[in-house]
Amino acid sequence: MAFLDKHKAIETHATLLMVLSLLVVTIGGIVQIAPLFYLENTIETVDGMRPYTPLELAGKAIFQREGCYGCHSQMIRPMRDEVERYGHYSLAAESMYDHPFQWGSKRTGPDLARVGGRYSDEWHQDHFTDAKSVVPESVMPPYGFLAGNVIDGEYIQDLVATNKLVGVPYTDAMVENALADFLAQADPNADSSGLVDRYTWKEENGTVVQNFPKSINVRNFDGQPELTEMDALIAYIQVLGTMVDFSTFTPVANR
Ligand code: HEC
Repeated sequence: MAFLDKHKAIETHATLLMVLSLLVVTIGGIVQIAPLFYLENTIETVDGMRPYTPLELAGKAIFQREGCYGCHSQMIRPMRDEVERYGHYSLAAESMYDHPFQWGSKRTGPDLARVGGRYSDEWHQDHFTDAKSVVPESVMPPYGFLAGNVIDGEYIQDLVATNKLVGVPYTDAMVENALADFLAQADPNADSSGLVDRYTWKEENGTVVQNFPKSINVRNFDGQPELTEMDALIAYIQVLGTMVDFSTFTPVANR
């Protein structure tokens, strides 16, 4: 057949085949990617999502430094077994302030996307110090040394400013007060009203309204007087998956 003969010319010329394949892949790529730049918003806005507080952000940095993502994912897929085990599937909006995101692809341990509030701080202290003391069959390594690493927040303002630079909507007040907010969150005796005010905002039609004070945990997370890496890590773990209220959330498609 004449058509197949023509195709033979392509199949027997490696260079021609490569050039034409590249052309096809390029067109396919443009068709997939280009519309994303023209859509107003590729991530639906979801009530309750706020940037991490400075202490949570420090905890996330420790999560990354310790390579927790090597054993834990933070992405619940929309399949029945996942949803029954971990809760509502992850929304794109839930990781929109994560730089870099912690979706992960390896689950030696369980998914952590909704672990916030599931256990007490004391449970986490015990678990991080010696996982086998609470889960006898655990293979999770010990992280008790974090409780001995005191942090003074010297670089916390830079960390918040850097996240702002890459697009997290931190306000100037949040950057300015980063150190104060960092210290206040782990000290139940401090005045944390500034922190709570700053991190419970939401914009509606261009005006800022107060919203969602429920996800700001202010307490001594590791039970010792010093502010340590353990405080920061537990503050981060305890907020995971708690920002969006799934008892009232309806996906755009069902509205
Ligand atoms: C070598 C793999 C490994 C590494 C690295 C690891 N974990 Fe785990 N983790 C596990 C396993 C396995 C479990 C399940 C058994 C248990 O609860 O200890 C677990 C459980 C957990 C749980 C309880 C989850 C639940 O829903 O019960 C939390 C929270 C947790 N890990 C946090 C962390 C953090 C934070 C780090 C980094 C500092 C970390 N893990 C590093 C393997 C790991």
